[in-house]
Amino acid sequence: MNRIIVFFAFAILVVSCKGSKQQEINTGLITEKAMIVSARVEASEIGVSILKQGGNAFDAMIATDLALVVAYPVAGNIGGGGFTVYRKNNGEIGSFDYREKAPIAATRDMYLDENGEVIPGKSTLGAMAVGVPGTIAGLFKIHEQQGSMPFSELIQPSIDLAKKGVIVTKKQAQRLNGSGELFKKANKRTIMLDREWKEGDTIKYPNLAVTLERIRDNGRDEFYKGKTADLLVDYVQKLGGIITKKDLLKYEAKWRKPITSGYKDIRIISMSLPSSGGISLTQMLKSIEPYDIGKFNHNSLEYIQLLTEVERRVYADRAYYLGDPEFNNVPLDILSSTAYNNKRMEDFSWDLATKSVDVSHGNIEIIESDQTTHYSIIDQFGNAISVTNTLNSGYGSKVYIEEAGFFLNNEMDDLSVKVGVPNMYGLIGAEANSIEPEKRMLSSMTPTIVEQNGELKMVLGSPGGSTIITSVLQNILNVIEFKMGMQESVAQPRFHHQWLPDVILFENIFDTVNFTDLRKKGYHIRKGNSKIIGKVDAILVLPNGNLEGGADPRGDDTSVGF
Ligand code: GLY
Repeated sequence: MNRIIVFFAFAILVVSCKGSKQQEINTGLITEKAMIVSARVEASEIGVSILKQGGNAFDAMIATDLALVVAYPVAGNIGGGGFTVYRKNNGEIGSFDYREKAPIAATRDMYLDENGEVIPGKSTLGAMAVGVPGTIAGLFKIHEQQGSMPFSELIQPSIDLAKKGVIVTKKQAQRLNGSGELFKKANKRTIMLDREWKEGDTIKYPNLAVTLERIRDNGRDEFYKGKTADLLVDYVQKLGGIITKKDLLKYEAKWRKPITSGYKDIRIISMSLPSSGGISLTQMLKSIEPYDIGKFNHNSLEYIQLLTEVERRVYADRAYYLGDPEFNNVPLDILSSTAYNNKRMEDFSWDLATKSVDVSHGNIEIIESDQTTHYSIIDQFGNAISVTNTLNSGYGSKVYIEEAGFFLNNEMDDLSVKVGVPNMYGLIGAEANSIEPEKRMLSSMTPTIVEQNGELKMVLGSPGGSTIITSVLQNILNVIEFKMGMQESVAQPRFHHQWLPDVILFENIFDTVNFTDLRKKGYHIRKGNSKIIGKVDAILVLPNGNLEGGADPRGDDTSVGF
């Protein structure tokens, strides 16, 4: 069968985009029936091969996920967690939560010294940073509820890939080479991956292949009570960590009702708590709706101003109200209501920036990791899946179980290490997200599906820590309000505001034309050197029913389909 792989550029047109400067427009891969867009070509191809064998989107999801463990270990994982949102071809929706949990022995002050000060690095690097992993429980739960092919057939391509090896890309070589010292520090020794890598090298993962074979043969229990569990607990404890066999035994993935909300003629289906993604995206769209943002030029002064003021208010709420729903009574009905969000915008002025210190509860800064991974799937039956997974930082805690061949997350840093004190990414946690045994840490992951007039329209999501939500928001607006195609949309320059620090973060590719006016109005601007915001992998259903992939050119991301 004809394999279609397109990195991102097909047709390039030059147009004038609603008054903004002339831009190149790229059209992504177009297919008739099915598509997968992920961070690595190997993963997209493996997922599509499952679809071609007659598997459904859930089967393809499991195969793609496991392939990312091999091909994209910076974020693809079995030692971390994630969220999956789905919409079946009959309109049925749902989501799965396989977010990590704090170990049973976790305590509120576990990252503080005897003076009550945060111990630098303890929640981010090494065994104490590791949360109880959820990915394998999630994949088996999804398979049990929605899969149609035997699990063994879905995992086999990743076993084969781990044995055959993965070609190192330029970006991957940079990431691996930049992490060597941290690998050594976290593991108290050199690990297999700590050497100088160059583009074109092949990495083989023989021990990971054996772990995946054991999971193939013994099922979910292999990870939570079998040899893999023994290897994980023994190694973590040897390094001074607190995860026990009981933690693994007690871990459960959960089916959750997604957050749904309306914006004009579209319906958003997104992840519920413990991810802040769905509720925050809902609040942003509710706040924007009265302004008819489509009448402004894309990325114009007014557009930047409005989104900034909306984001400022929503991130203030996120920091104060949101946390694991099993530990908190979160006022979701109020937060998602039109009345509440309209009221929040009442003090917005076009003339002058609102000051974040005037907006809400204290100086909370939220900057999270940008090493997460998202992929989108639409199958030949019309089922859609949006999946975001993470180890938190790149390669997580950097703890690598050599004998099992995989990294462990450092998701504990997504909890409030100390209420009122910033963590590694500047996150100052609030009470709702404080450390408690078995609590799921608040996430920003926003796997999202969009319907228009009741029909499937778009599947999207992004890595990027706290910038995930605003990256997803901008892509929804790009398509719905500015009528962009999917590839055109994901390639657009992005910006981000998160209440505190009170700065607008712009990608380095962003046009500076409005910066003087923004400064005059009191906005603070930070433009990164090589900083990217998000890495959106998305699929758009075109008016004729064909699918257009949006594979973010910021990474090695690739659309594959048929
Ligand atoms: N670790 C990033 C997130 O869950 O938002």
